[in-house]
Amino acid sequence: MSPLAVCLLAVSAFFGHPVSAATGNSSSSSATVHWLGKAPTLHSGTTFGLPWPRGKHWLDSTKFSISSTSGQTVDLQSWATGYWSDGSVKWTGHAIPGLDSISEEYTVKATASNGSTNSTASARADNTTTGIIVTESSDEIKVDTGKLIASFPKTGDTILKTIETKSGKTVGQNGKLVLHSQSGVEDTPGARGNSTIDYFSYESRISDVSIGEQTSVRALVTVRGEHQVTDSSSHDPWLQFVLRFYLYSNSESIKIVHSLVFDGNATTDFITGIGIRFDVPLEGEELYNRHVRVAGVDGGLLNEAVQGITGLRRDPGTAVKSAQYDGTETPDTGTWDTRVSSRLHWIPSWNDYSLSQLSPDGFTLRKRTKAGQSWINIPGGTRAEGLAYLGGATTGGLAIGLRDFWKRYPTGFDISNAASDTGSITLWLYSPSAQPLDLRPFHNGLGQDGYEDQLDALQITYEDWEDGFNTPYGIARTSEISLIAFDQTPSRDTLSTLVTNVNSPPVLVANPSYIKESKALGSYWDLPDTSSDASQTVEAHLDFLAKFYQDQVEQRRWYGFLDYGDFMHTYDTDRHTWRYDIGGYAWDNSELSPDLFFWLYFLRTGREDIYRFAEALTRHTGEVDVYHLGNWKGLGTRHGVQHWSDSAKQARISQPQYRKYFYYLSGGDERVGELLEELLDTDQTYGILDPNRKVRTDGWTPTPNSTVAIGLGTDWSALAGGWLIEWERRGSRWEESKTKLTNTITGIANLTNGFVTGSGLYDLELGTLGPPPADPQNLGNVSVSHLSAVFGLLEVVSESIEYYGSTLPKGFKQAWLDYCYYFGATKQEQIARYGSSFGSLNLFQGHSRLTAYVAHELGNSTIEQRAWKEFFDTDGFAPDAAWNTTYLNGSSVLMPVDEASWISTNDVAQYGLAAIQNLALVGESLSSYT
Ligand SMILES: *[C@@H]1O[C@H](CO)[C@@H](O)[C@H](O)[C@H]1NC(C)=O
Ligand SMILES: *[C@@H]1O[C@H](CO)[C@@H](O)[C@H](O)[C@H]1NC(C)=O
Ligand SMILES: *[C@@H]1O[C@H](CO)[C@@H](O)[C@H](O)[C@H]1NC(C)=O
Ligand SMILES: *[C@@H]1O[C@H](CO)[C@@H](O)[C@H](O)[C@H]1NC(C)=O
Ligand SMILES: *[C@@H]1O[C@H](CO)[C@@H](O)[C@H](O)[C@H]1NC(C)=O
Ligand SMILES: *[C@@H]1O[C@H](CO)[C@@H](O)[C@H](O)[C@H]1NC(C)=O
Repeated sequence: MSPLAVCLLAVSAFFGHPVSAATGNSSSSSATVHWLGKAPTLHSGTTFGLPWPRGKHWLDSTKFSISSTSGQTVDLQSWATGYWSDGSVKWTGHAIPGLDSISEEYTVKATASNGSTNSTASARADNTTTGIIVTESSDEIKVDTGKLIASFPKTGDTILKTIETKSGKTVGQNGKLVLHSQSGVEDTPGARGNSTIDYFSYESRISDVSIGEQTSVRALVTVRGEHQVTDSSSHDPWLQFVLRFYLYSNSESIKIVHSLVFDGNATTDFITGIGIRFDVPLEGEELYNRHVRVAGVDGGLLNEAVQGITGLRRDPGTAVKSAQYDGTETPDTGTWDTRVSSRLHWIPSWNDYSLSQLSPDGFTLRKRTKAGQSWINIPGGTRAEGLAYLGGATTGGLAIGLRDFWKRYPTGFDISNAASDTGSITLWLYSPSAQPLDLRPFHNGLGQDGYEDQLDALQITYEDWEDGFNTPYGIARTSEISLIAFDQTPSRDTLSTLVTNVNSPPVLVANPSYIKESKALGSYWDLPDTSSDASQTVEAHLDFLAKFYQDQVEQRRWYGFLDYGDFMHTYDTDRHTWRYDIGGYAWDNSELSPDLFFWLYFLRTGREDIYRFAEALTRHTGEVDVYHLGNWKGLGTRHGVQHWSDSAKQARISQPQYRKYFYYLSGGDERVGELLEELLDTDQTYGILDPNRKVRTDGWTPTPNSTVAIGLGTDWSALAGGWLIEWERRGSRWEESKTKLTNTITGIANLTNGFVTGSGLYDLELGTLGPPPADPQNLGNVSVSHLSAVFGLLEVVSESIEYYGSTLPKGFKQAWLDYCYYFGATKQEQIARYGSSFGSLNLFQGHSRLTAYVAHELGNSTIEQRAWKEFFDTDGFAPDAAWNTTYLNGSSVLMPVDEASWISTNDVAQYGLAAIQNLALVGESLSSYT
């Protein structure tokens, strides 16, 4: 039997839910979604996710529909992104088309049907849209949204052959990725002509093109490939890409999710430009009717014509001038002042425009009449908002936008050949005007020789260095690009609105209370608690921390192509700066789960600023801080000066739980889904790389396909998090994942000391877990680390316990409750239970949520009080911490900043999680805490 047949059988066996039970449990229910922030004023299609309570809806017997507040129905494409363990739908993804009228809210209705309705197909409710039409031939895929037709070749170097408007105008064609690199860099600033450096130019080369199964409202075309040299120079194809083109019905735009994996050599492959280019046909359009628009600052635009007829010595007439400025076709030249119309050939036309955003603080803009002539500076500005348009009043045109353009500096746009028959727009994700992207290590090892030296160096810079481990090989980056097709040059206001959509794409979300009640993202958080003075204080502190990090991103300029989304780990109070240059203190790389804090903070508040912040974090940490290729594929890198510089390659950093919230809320973002899938083989890395290699004393070494030692905290929680998500998603490996999760859960339950054992021997082939090397007889090992539960363990375990329900392997919940209770218990209690104490631990504030968990489960008020005592009175942030910032300016700092020298990101992450979870689990006992 082919693997596919096995998979289909499994799926139908799984979803073959008895109809009687389905009709017995299923009933109609609905969920309201609203726009994050303000409702958009223009809309060109959205995908969103919705949770459903356990046991309520089965996919094969549920029909989904959507209507606006006024009862108007809208086309809906629906699919399942997650299931409960009983097979009922846990998460759905939904796509709606471009909307002509936009409602503040929409209601999604899930209606039980007798099974004859295919719930995944969209129900056409009115005739306002025509839906997506896909035509596939052996060499291309054509998608018609009703407002544009895009054709995607299946082979070659062109990622998008043509973009046609509804009226049949081709406004974009010959779309390609472009790349420039060089083999070395000038070590002396300003030095030129290093003859040992080779320069390379590349274009996309497609290896695979596919289209998603469902295409009624949204079509997803996925194009994979790599970059191949265009000249005679010799460089192997490299820099793998995945482009996901999202096309919505009734939409004139295409959203591209553009992902690259760095598969080069940091010492010989220096990227000098990453771009995407489209040709724009302009033949037949008069030069004075061709328009260039470039987004500037705060909705501003550069509004120019290729051949300007304003500001001249002679005036062609008001109607002519305002037509040109507005981007409409100018009146017939017969109506112009002849002193202008007879001299058009003397007016230069501007062939090329170029914008460079080389820092988050400023961009430059220039133009020239043609190659060989001088560039003329156009005044630039501060932060370009990332959109460029080229087109004509009658030929139509194309706009390209990049989300977070200035935040992802160095970026740029080139508009070229605008005065010829075919112009082009290049969006630079990495500007060729910038310094080459230098991914080499930032130091040479400083003579460290062997683990002893490396551990000693860790004592001073906190960097865990090891030769060869500071490699970017396998890191990735994802960018979001928009293409918009126009039948004629759009109005300035339209473009300005589109710029807003490019940077803050419209998002539909359910209310926090609905998500909470569905229990689809756990039961360890709740809505903000303003019931008492004490809880209001905690809420105010959470708000303070969330705002502080947003402000620090701006004040410390945590921006850049690879860096944007992350923040720093530790502060240097003497220099009044974060420790951006000190070994293990710089980029945070998800240390102690700030990702979880920000996502939970969003879930409970529903705040737009938090969503956008957490989304940028997820897009960064899941890509740049994790390896997607090579031996360490599936592992992340510990915090450091470069995102990949530390030698601690760990599953705790790639923890799939960190992506889970965005994945489901977004309706199953396909790039994040792919990242989650990649992580399913993280367990295999333990056969190659021992995370404890530098401190191991028992002589154990890893062997592929054998039995490996893994920690029950940071290691197992990351593996378990991934297995649970795969099981929920019913991905292609869900049965294997369920087996591994169940086996290891059983194994932990069976350990004499459960989680307190600390580690276990995991069988890479069978996915089973037994006693650790230190205790082969399972007599009862005691090994507890302050780190075990602070990289998602509680969140994964608590969700797993709920997910299994009555099928949870026996003894596991007790093992977890014991760990939760004894971590913060007295040494006497630990000794009485385990024969020895847990030694000296810390992070009690963060662990107070484990105490809260057990208190909640047992309904024990003494333990509840203990949880609050640990939260307020152990380590971390004390209630009498400053909870404010100090403004610093003048010569003590590079530029004015708000400083909170009492803050460390570790504390923020764990305080935030403990505050949210304690309020949810034992909040009612806070007011009685003294
Ligand atoms: C439902 O629609 C999907 C997508 O079009 C299709 O793959 C599937 O076979 C359909 N199922 C039934 C039962 O018709
Ligand atoms: C949709 O179109 C069909 C066929 O043209 C027509 O019979 C029907 O009344 C239309 N429905 C609406 C809601 O306009
Ligand atoms: C020239 O480039 C090579 C790398 O290709 C580098 O090793 C060398 O130092 C450079 N020389 C100068 C003078 O920059
Ligand atoms: C990168 O290239 C350098 C110079 O050719 C070579 O010495 C080194 O082994 C390469 N590194 C890797 C990881 O291939
Ligand atoms: C490990 O097992 C897998 C599948 O069973 C196999 O493909 C792989 O070659 C094995 N690796 C080693 C090093 O034995
Ligand atoms: C549980 O542990 C006992 C020894 O304590 C062992 O004999 C047994 O095989 C284990 N069972 C599982 C399922 O691991």
